[in-house]
Amino acid sequence: MEKILKEGIQHNLTGEITVPGDKSISHRAIMLGSIAHGITKIDNFLMGEDCLSTIECFRKMGVEIDVNSDNVIVSGVGLNGLKEPSGILDAGNSGTTTRLISGILAGQRFKSTITGDDSLKTRPMKRIIEPLSKMGAKFLCINNDGYLPFTISGGEIKGIAYESRVASAQVKSACLLAGLYADCPTTVIEPSQSRNHSELMLEYFGADIKCHSKTEVSIKPNPRLMGQHVIVPSDISSAAYFMVAGLICEGSDILIKNVNINPTRAGIINVIQDMNGNISLENIRKQSNEEVADIHVTYSPDMRGTTIGGDIIPTLIDEIPVIAVLATFAQGKTIIKDAAELKVKESNRIDTVVNGLEAIGANVKACDDGMVIYGGAPLFGAKIETKKDHRIAMAFAIANLICKGSIILDDGDCVAISFPDFYDKLDMIS
Ligand code: S3P
Repeated sequence: MEKILKEGIQHNLTGEITVPGDKSISHRAIMLGSIAHGITKIDNFLMGEDCLSTIECFRKMGVEIDVNSDNVIVSGVGLNGLKEPSGILDAGNSGTTTRLISGILAGQRFKSTITGDDSLKTRPMKRIIEPLSKMGAKFLCINNDGYLPFTISGGEIKGIAYESRVASAQVKSACLLAGLYADCPTTVIEPSQSRNHSELMLEYFGADIKCHSKTEVSIKPNPRLMGQHVIVPSDISSAAYFMVAGLICEGSDILIKNVNINPTRAGIINVIQDMNGNISLENIRKQSNEEVADIHVTYSPDMRGTTIGGDIIPTLIDEIPVIAVLATFAQGKTIIKDAAELKVKESNRIDTVVNGLEAIGANVKACDDGMVIYGGAPLFGAKIETKKDHRIAMAFAIANLICKGSIILDDGDCVAISFPDFYDKLDMIS
C-alpha cells in the first residue's frame, strides 16, 4: 500500500529506542536450533516476514517451533532428524532462508523443493548451486537455470575446499552447513571477510569450526550440536536508519540500545566517523557469543563526503541505501565503489537508490559498481518507487525527514520484511 510520509523538515529527534532483533542471527538460531539436540530458547527473535519464512520451512520438515510473546522455543530434532517436507518450502522474500537452508537440505536423504516471491525468483542461486553440487547435492531448476524454484536431492556429501568468487556470508554459510553432513572437513575461502554469524553460532552450539584467517574457515562434519539459549541483539541494519536520522536532523540526540556491533557488520560506524559524524559506543559487552553496545548519535552539521570501497563493503552492504541518504546531507563528494553486489539484493539497489535520490532533487550518478553523490543539494518530496524493497522504503522514510514537502512510498508495507514497527518507532522519536 502507498504510504504518504509526514510533511516538512523535522527537528529535535530525541530519546532512547530499541530496534528489533538481528535478522541474520534470528534465521541462524532457528536453523541451528532445529538441527541441534534438545531445546533452543531464542529471546528478542525478529518477528519479521523473512524470519517467519524460515520458521515455516522448518515446521514443514517436522520441527516443533513455538512462537510466544517474548521468545521462540525450538525443539531440535538433531542433525539427521529432519523429515521430508510436507510441501514446497516457501522462502518468501528471503535470500538468507533460501541459501542457508539449501546447505542443510544438501545433507538430507530426501528431496525438497524451494520457491519464493517474484523478487527472490530473480536473485542468483548459481553461487550456492555450484559449491553444493561439487559437494554432491543435485539441483533441478524448474523454470530457469540458476534461479528458484528448484528441487534439491541431497545425501552423500563430500567435504571440499571452496574458493568463493564473492564475499557472501550466504554462500559461505551454505557450504559450512552442508559441511556438517560431509565425509571430511570443508573449507571456505573468500575474497574478503563477510559477516561471521554462522561461525560464531556454530561454535556456540558445539560445532568443530576453525577460522584460519579472516577469509578462511573450516568445519569438521558430524558434530553433536546442543540446543542453546540465544539472546538476539538488536540489528545494526535496522539501527542504521535511526543513526542517520539523528545525524541529519537539527537538534537530535538519540540512544539506540543493545545493538550488535560485530566488526563484520559495523562498517557504517567507521564510515560515520570518517564523515565527521557524532557517534559513540557505550556499554560495550558480549552476549551469546556476539558483541553488543548502545549507540549514541547527535546532530552533526559538519559532515563531509568520503570514499567507501574495498574490504569494508561486505560489512555495510545492507546499509548502503541509508548511507547514500546521509551522503546527500554531507558536504562534498561521496564515492561508493566495489559494491556491484547491490544489483542482486531485494531490488537492484544501485538503480532504486539512484532513481529515488534523483527524484527528490539530490545530485547523484550511478556507476557499474556503486554510485557517486554530491551532497548539499536541497531535497524535495516526490514519489519513490521502492520495488517492494524494505531497505529502500526505510532509507527514503529517513530522507523524508530533511525534505521540503513529503515523500510518498509506492509501497510502505514492505518494511515488515525486517522491521514491522518501523513507522511507530520513527513516530516515537519525531
Ligand atoms: C546475509 C548476508 C548478506 C546480506 C543479507 C543477509 C546473511 O548477503 O546482504 O541481508 O544473513 O547471511 P550476502 O551474503 O549474499 O552478501
